[in-house]
Amino acid sequence: MDTSTSYLGLRLPHPFMAGASPMGYSLDAIKRLDDAGCAAIVLHSLFEEQISLATEGRVAHVDPGDPEMSGRVSEYPRPADYKYGPDGYANHIVKVKQAVRIPVIASLNGHTGEAWLKFARIIEQAGADALEFNYYDVVTGVKVLSTAIEDNVVNAVTNLTRAIAIPVAVKMTPYYTAFGHLAAALDRAGARGLVLFNRFYQSNVDTDAMELVPQVELSTSSELPLRLHWLALLHRQVRASLAASGGVVTPDDGVKALLAGADAVQLVSALLRHGPGYVATMRQGLERWLDRYHTDSVTAMIGRASFHAHPDPASFERAHYIRTLQSWMG
Ligand SMILES: Cc1cc2nc3c(=O)[nH]c(=O)nc-3n(C[C@H](O)[C@H](O)[C@H](O)COP(=O)(O)O)c2cc1C
Repeated sequence: MDTSTSYLGLRLPHPFMAGASPMGYSLDAIKRLDDAGCAAIVLHSLFEEQISLATEGRVAHVDPGDPEMSGRVSEYPRPADYKYGPDGYANHIVKVKQAVRIPVIASLNGHTGEAWLKFARIIEQAGADALEFNYYDVVTGVKVLSTAIEDNVVNAVTNLTRAIAIPVAVKMTPYYTAFGHLAAALDRAGARGLVLFNRFYQSNVDTDAMELVPQVELSTSSELPLRLHWLALLHRQVRASLAASGGVVTPDDGVKALLAGADAVQLVSALLRHGPGYVATMRQGLERWLDRYHTDSVTAMIGRASFHAHPDPASFERAHYIRTLQSWMG
């Protein structure tokens, strides 16, 4: 039984890796993930705002020391609030690479294609095997065209893939007008992988304070179907490899993501809940599935439930939508 897979051109012994999270902060935690059999690790993100402050003295184009402007950026964390500054992040990569055998994927998190992206070269020199670009932009203006929003993402990814030679994966939200078109454009822009999806940290309303409050909760399997849908649609439509991120919390979820079309599966909530040893549980669940369905390799199962061979996915989607509504008998 061959559980190996290929992601970003990296050969992995199985598809389950640790996604970006505070698990990447400490060498000890990373070594535990390695010892537990994680196929790779994505480090926590270094943010555009940290880099632009360190290199240009600005956050979101504003000098935080300017008394007239500081109110605009006062909500951002101060440099001391981050676990690592840009140089510390690069040093951390060097140490992590010395400490573990598995591929180490660094993470940059930003929303422009500006000069800060040059820092990717330092990440590459520090020895990262690949870079995940978490493009996180919440467009709040009501006059911005969807084409302009999507062009910005593609330009940023083009700048990044031109700057470095290690593979770049793009992690994004699904909330674009034409996500499939954007995914194909990112493929052409040189992205070697797409991570579906970034979680969008929606605000909630505090009914006592009568204001919006940010919330972070660990995910459940209910977040998976959106990922499955786009994995199934993009499988073999793009050259980039696909990783599932979000809502893979049981071994069955992992099998579903692979059948839909994921080449690799990122875990965060499951590992934070159950600890690094849960990777073995995921892997055993996968092996049980392969055995039960007499499938001798993960490669043979990837995309089996995708739309690849389907003659008309749009019609399939529409027909099943109508059938699902009709089947509700009350
Ligand atoms: C506490 C916490 C911190 C996270 N930090 C990052 C981060 O630094 N960069 C990033 O791209 N994603 C980050 N994420 C998002 C995860 O990588 C992942 O996309 C998300 O949790 C969905 O996967 P899951 O369902 O396996 O948790 C974080 C998630 C959590 C819960």
